[in-house]
Amino acid sequence: MNQSKYLVLLFLLLISSHAFALEKPGKAAIASAHYLATEAGFEVLEKGGNAFDAAVAVSAALAVVEPSSSGLGGGAFWLLHRNTDNKSIMIDGREEAPGASHKDMYLDANGEVNRDLALHGPLAAGIPGHVAGMVHIAENYGRLPIKDSLAPAIRLARDGFAVDEKYVRLLKPVIKHMRRWPAGNDIFLVDGEIPALGALIKQADVAAVLEQVVATGIQDFYFGETARRLVAGVRAAGGIWSMADLAAYKVVEREPVVFEYQDYKLLTASPPSSGGIAIAEILNILEPYNIASRSPAQRVHLVVEAMRRAYRDRSLYLGDPDFVTVPVAMLTSQNYAAGLRASIRTDKATASASLAGSDDQPGGQHTTHFSVLDKDGNMVSATLTVNTLYGANFVAPGTGFLLNNEMDDFSAKSGVPNAYGLIGFEANAIAPGKRPLSSMSPTIVIGKERTAILGTPGGSRIITMVLLGILDFFDGGGPQSWVSLPRYHHQYLPDRIFAEPEAFSPELQSQLQALGHEVQVLKRQWGNMNAVMWDQRNGRVEAASDPRTPSGKAIVR
Ligand code: GLY
Repeated sequence: MNQSKYLVLLFLLLISSHAFALEKPGKAAIASAHYLATEAGFEVLEKGGNAFDAAVAVSAALAVVEPSSSGLGGGAFWLLHRNTDNKSIMIDGREEAPGASHKDMYLDANGEVNRDLALHGPLAAGIPGHVAGMVHIAENYGRLPIKDSLAPAIRLARDGFAVDEKYVRLLKPVIKHMRRWPAGNDIFLVDGEIPALGALIKQADVAAVLEQVVATGIQDFYFGETARRLVAGVRAAGGIWSMADLAAYKVVEREPVVFEYQDYKLLTASPPSSGGIAIAEILNILEPYNIASRSPAQRVHLVVEAMRRAYRDRSLYLGDPDFVTVPVAMLTSQNYAAGLRASIRTDKATASASLAGSDDQPGGQHTTHFSVLDKDGNMVSATLTVNTLYGANFVAPGTGFLLNNEMDDFSAKSGVPNAYGLIGFEANAIAPGKRPLSSMSPTIVIGKERTAILGTPGGSRIITMVLLGILDFFDGGGPQSWVSLPRYHHQYLPDRIFAEPEAFSPELQSQLQALGHEVQVLKRQWGNMNAVMWDQRNGRVEAASDPRTPSGKAIVR
C-alpha cells in the first residue's frame, strides 16, 4: 500500500471509531421532580453556571419546594462527571449516626424494635449532609459563587410556593405525626390541617439559614447559631445530638462504582449506597444471557433471578465502607457473577429460602432524584432524601426545616425488616459516626453513541427501577420510555415479584407463575424517575420526568 492510501485508510479508521461522536452537546437539560427546581437550575445555567452550579441550585430548590422528599435536614449522593478531564466522583453527603447512638438504641425492654422512635421525632434523625454537600460542590466544582446558586431557593423560601397535589397526597399519611411537634405546624400545616391546593408555603427560617450558607459556607450550619438551634431543639424533644456531632460532619468524596457492560461504561453509586454494587452484580449475571433476544417471560424470569441474588448480597455484605469491609471487588467481579449464574435455572424460579442467606413495602415518592447535563457535557445524577415522607416530621424550633429519619435505614436489629421491609445484619448495624446503608442509585451510563443520566426515589425499589431504565436504554429506548416503563421488582425476601398494574399481561403473569414465581400485582405505581439522554451521534438531547408525578419537569434548552 502506498503512503497516501495508508493515510486515507488510517483517517477512515479514526473517524469510524469515533463515528459522529460529539464532544459537547451544545444544549443543556435538567429533569427534576418539581418544575420550580428545574427552572432554578436553568436560571443558574443561564447566568453562566455549569452543571455543578445547577445541581446546587436544584438541590436547594427541591429542599424548599418538595419538603416531603429532601431538605436541609437530610442527605444525598451527587454523582458528578466532568467532561473536560473525564473525572467522575461521588459526593457522599449521607447522614451520619450521632456520637451517642448505639446498636440497640431502638430496642424496647423485650428486645423488639420500637419503630416509632426509629421513624418519628428527633431520635430518628442522623446528622444531615445536604448543606455540607452543596457547599462542597459549589466550592470545588462550580463556576459561580454559591450566592448565585442559592438565590432561586432563597427567593422560593421567602416568597413561598404553591401547594400542589403531591404535597397534599404525601402529607396525608403523616399528618398525625407532624402534629406531634409544634415547630413545623405553622410552616407546613394551616391551623393544624393539610393546606388547600394553591396555598402559599413560606419558609422565612429556611431563607435565613440559606443566607447564612451564602455568608459563612458550612460555618453557621455545623458550628454556629443554626447548629445551636438544631442541638437545643433535638435534645429538648428527646434526641441525642451534640454540637460535636455537627462539627465532626464531613462530606466524603468517593470513587463511584465503575464497570463495563457490552460497549457501555457505567458510573454509579458506591457504598454507603448498595445501589451501584447491586446494579453491577445484576448486569454481570445477565450479560451472557443476551436477554434482548429472549421471550418476555424468560427475560423477566432471568432479570428477577439476578435481582434476587443481588438483594441477598445487599443484606449480607453491605454497609458504610468506613466501618465495615465491603467486598466490592468480589461482588462486582465476573467470576462471582458466573458462580451465581450457575445456580439459575431457566425453567424454574429459585426459592429465596434455598439460597444461603431481605423484604419490601411499597416504595413511594419520598426521596427525590434529578439529572443535569450542561452544554459542555458535564453531568450530574443526584438522589436526595429525608428518608420516609416528610422525614422525621420534626423541626427544631428556629430552623424551619424538617429533619430526616435516616436512622431507620440502619438495621435496628439483625434480620428484622426496616420501613422498606429490608433486612440487614452486622454490616449495617448502628454505630456512632456511621452512615446508614442506602439504596439511592444515581447513575450515568456513557456509551460511544449515547449517554444516559438517570435515577429515582422509591426506597428499596430504587435499584430495580434504575436497572429496568438501563436495560431499556440498552435496547434503544430514550428517557421518556425509561421513566414511563411499567415496573417490576424482586428483592430476595419476601420471595415474590411485585409488579405495577400494567407491568405484565395476564399471559406473561401465568407464564411466570408456571416457572414457580409468586407474582403480586400492586394496585398502585411507584417511583419518580428523572432522566436525561445525550445522543452524541447527532447532538440530540432529550429529558423526561416520570408521568407518575405531574409536578416534575424536564427542560432541554
Ligand atoms: N432513605 C432511602 C435510601 O437511602 O435508600
